[in-house]
Amino acid sequence: MKIFCPKKNTNIFWIFLFLKEKSYMKRKLITSALPYIHGIPHLGNIIGSVLPADVYSRFCRLKGEKVLYICGSDSHGTMFEIVAEKNKTTPKQIVYQNHKKVKDIFKKFEISFDYYGITDSKINEEFTNHIFKKLDENNYIIEVEVENAYCEKCRKFLPDRFIEGKCSFCGGLARGDQCDDCGRLIDVKEIIDSHCIFCKGKIKFRKTKHLFLNLPKFEKELFEFVEKSRGWSKLAKMETLGFLKRGLKPRAITRDASWGFKVPKKNYENKVFYVWFDAPIGYLSFTKEWCLKNDQNFEDWWKSEDTELVQFMGKDNTIFHSIIFPAMLLGCRENWKLADRLISCGWLKTEGIKFSKSRGKGLTTEEALKKYPADYWRFVLISLYPEQNDSVFSIEVFREIINNEFADIIGNFIHRVLSFCYSNFGMIPKPNKDNIDHPIPEEIKELKNISNTITKNFEDCRFQEALKNIVHYGKKANAYFNNNEPWKKGEEEKKEICFYSGNLVKNLAILIYPIVPNFSEKVFEFLNINPKKLKWNEAEKFDYMGKIKKSRPLIDKL
Ligand code: 2FM
Ligand code: ZN
Repeated sequence: MKIFCPKKNTNIFWIFLFLKEKSYMKRKLITSALPYIHGIPHLGNIIGSVLPADVYSRFCRLKGEKVLYICGSDSHGTMFEIVAEKNKTTPKQIVYQNHKKVKDIFKKFEISFDYYGITDSKINEEFTNHIFKKLDENNYIIEVEVENAYCEKCRKFLPDRFIEGKCSFCGGLARGDQCDDCGRLIDVKEIIDSHCIFCKGKIKFRKTKHLFLNLPKFEKELFEFVEKSRGWSKLAKMETLGFLKRGLKPRAITRDASWGFKVPKKNYENKVFYVWFDAPIGYLSFTKEWCLKNDQNFEDWWKSEDTELVQFMGKDNTIFHSIIFPAMLLGCRENWKLADRLISCGWLKTEGIKFSKSRGKGLTTEEALKKYPADYWRFVLISLYPEQNDSVFSIEVFREIINNEFADIIGNFIHRVLSFCYSNFGMIPKPNKDNIDHPIPEEIKELKNISNTITKNFEDCRFQEALKNIVHYGKKANAYFNNNEPWKKGEEEKKEICFYSGNLVKNLAILIYPIVPNFSEKVFEFLNINPKKLKWNEAEKFDYMGKIKKSRPLIDKL
C-alpha cells in the first residue's frame, strides 16, 4: 500500500502514526497468585508465582510493551482465625501486620509489581458483592442443604481448615478441602480420622444451608474457552482438561466463619464468602485501585480485546483460575475479560517435602535473604523453575548453580572482558574502519541465533530453558574471548576482539536482566549505559562503543 505523505506535513504524519501505534498497542495485564499472608512467604511461594510473573513482566517491559503487573495479599480464609486463636489476637491484626512484612520482602526480592493490594479492601468488597449479585440475578447461585462438619465440644461448624486428618488419596496431611501433600481437592467427608484442630475431638456432620455456584451450567462455555486457549503452560492445560472431563459439580461459595466478607443475602448474615470467591476478584479490584491512583480507564484493562491477560500460579491454584474464576466472570454476563494465558508450575521441594507456609517447612524468604542477595536466589530459583515436574532444592544444588554457572560462566566472563578493555583502552573500543566492514565472525553469528532462542523461551514463559540458553550464551562468549587471545594480538585485532567481547557483555547483561535485574544494572553501570533507555532488541546488536568504568567481580563464589 502506498501512503501519500506530502513533505510539508511529514511531522504531522509521523505524530499521527505514532499515536495510532500507541492506541493500538496491546496492553498486557500480568497477575501472580495472591499469597496467603497468615505466615511469611517461603521460597516455594516466590518460585510458584511472583518470581516468574516478575521475570515475564520485566521482559515485556524491555520489549516496550504496556505492562501492568498486579498482585496482592490474600487476606481472608479460615487459617487467619486459627493463627489468631493460637496467638491470642484477631485475624485483622495478623492480616495488616503481615501485609506490611510481606510487601517488604517482595521488594527486597526485586519483585516489580506495579500495584500490590490486599483483598480485605473496600473496593474488593464492592466488587465481590457486585459479582455475587449478578450471579444471583442470572440464576447461577443455588442454595443447597449440606451436611457440614460440626464439633460438639466447640459447638460450632468447622470450615475447611479447622479439620485435619489423613488424605484418602495419598495418606498425607489433609487440611479441610485440600491435601497439603498431593494438592488434590477432597471432600471433607473422605478425610480419614478427621478431627477438630482446636480440641482434637472427633467430627460429626450436621445439616446447614450454603450458597453454591452452579458450575455445571458453564460446562459448554468453559470447554470452548479452554479449547480455544493458546499459550497456556502444559501443566495448566492438562490439569484443567482433566478437571473438566471428570464433570463439574456445584461449588460452595459461603462458609460458616466470622473472618471474611459478609454475604449480602437474607438468612446468610452469619456466614462469610469462601476465601476463593473474593480472592480472585482481587485481580479486578487491584486493577481498579491502580487505575484510580494513576488516572487510567479500568475497562480498558478488563473489558477490552486489546488487553492480554496472563496469569501465573502454582499447580494447586490452576482450576480456580481456569474454571471457577472464569465461570464467575462469565456468569455476570458483563463481558469481563477471561485469562488469555495461564501459566502454572510445579512445586519446589526440599528433601521430598514441598515448601509449606502453614506447616512451617522450608526456608522463609526472610531467612534466605539474610544468607545471600536476592539475585543469587532469583538465579537459582529460575534455574530450578518447576515448569512441568516438581524440582528439588538443596543447599548443595544452590552452591553448584551459583559457583558453576552464575560465578564461573557469567560473572567471570563479564569481569574479565571489562577489566581487559579497561586496562587496554579505558573503553569498549571502536574497531578500525576496515575491520568494521569485516564480515561478522562466525562465532558471533552463532550467538545471535542463541539470543533468538532465548527471546522465544521468554515469550513462551519457559524461563528455565531461557536461563539454560543464557548460560550457554555465556559459555560461547567466554570461548570467543579465550580462543581469540586478544592479549597476544596486535593493536587492531585486539580492538576488534574487545569490541565484540564488550558487546557480548552488554548483550548478556540485557538477556539476563529479567532474571537478575540488580546484577545487570551493575554491569550497565560499568558500561555507562542508562538501563532505563535499554530495549530488548538491543541484545542482538553489535554497535556499542564508549568509555567504561573500572569493573569489579560481581559474584562471589560460595
Ligand atoms: O494458594 C494460595 O496461596 C492462594 N492464596 C492463591 C490465591 S490466588 C487468587 F486470588 F486467585
Ligand atoms: Zn493427599
